[in-house]
Amino acid sequence: MVQRIVILTGAGISAESGLGTFRDAGGLWAQYDLAEVATPVGFARDPGLVHNFYIARREIAAGASPNAAHTALADLAGRSDGAVTLVTQNIDDLHERGGSKDVIHMHGELMRALCQFCGARWDAPERMEPSDLCPTCSRPGTRPDVVWFGEIPYHMERIAEAIAKADLFVSIGTSGEVYPAAGFVEEARAFGARTLEINLEPSRIPGLFDRVIAGPATRTVPAWVAELSR
Ligand code: OAD
Repeated sequence: MVQRIVILTGAGISAESGLGTFRDAGGLWAQYDLAEVATPVGFARDPGLVHNFYIARREIAAGASPNAAHTALADLAGRSDGAVTLVTQNIDDLHERGGSKDVIHMHGELMRALCQFCGARWDAPERMEPSDLCPTCSRPGTRPDVVWFGEIPYHMERIAEAIAKADLFVSIGTSGEVYPAAGFVEEARAFGARTLEINLEPSRIPGLFDRVIAGPATRTVPAWVAELSR
C-alpha cells in the first residue's frame, strides 16, 4: 500500500445515498439561490430562510444511510495506521456513520451549531430559529456550523500539512469548481504526489490527474480500495 494518502471527497460520494449534489442537472444550486442561502449576507438578510434551507438538508441527511463508498474509505483508513487523511467538503455525517474517524470537515458540519457572537459550538437541534439563544453567551446568534461562500474553510493548515507529505492525492465525487479545495490537486502535484480522480465522469482538464477512474462511487471506490490491498 502507498504510504500516505490524502482523500478529498465531495457531494458525489453521497449522491447514491440520496443526497443531492450541487452542480449536476437538477442539483441544489439549480433549485436555490446560492447567494440567499449560503452566504453571510444572505443570512443577515433573512436568517429564517437560511435556517429553513439547512433544516431541510438536516432532515434529508438524517434519513439517509452511508453507502459502500463511505464504508470502503472507513475500512481503508481503519487499517492504514494513520497514513490516510480524509478531507471532505460535505457537511453531512455519512463518512462518520460509515465508520470513518477523524474526518476533516473543511466546509463545516450540518449537525453542529455555531454562535456567531461568541464562537461556541454545540450539537444542532433538528430545527434552528433566528431567536434561538446561544447556550454559552445567551445571545440570539445561532447559525449552522457550515462554511458559506465568502468565509474561510476550516482546518486549512492541517490539510496543507497532509498534502505536503502525501504520496497519493485522491479526489472523489467533486466537480472541482470551488476553491480552495479545487486547488488541492495542483498543490499535491507540486509536492510530488501522484494524483487520482474517482468521479462519475472526468471532471477537470485532461492531464491534471495522473489517473481517472470513472463511474458511480459505490462501485469505483470499493474497487479501488480492493486494488490497493492487493
Ligand atoms: P458538485 O455538485 O459541484 O459536484 C459533484 C460531483 O460529483 C460532480 O463532478 C459529479 O459528476 C460527481 N458525481 C455525481 N454523482 C456521482 C456518483 N454517484 N459517483 C461519483 N461521482 C458522482 O459538488 P462538490 O464538488 O462537492 O460548498 O461541491 C463543492 C462545494 O460547492 C460544496 O461543498 C458546497 C457547494 O457549493 C459550499 O456550500 C460552501
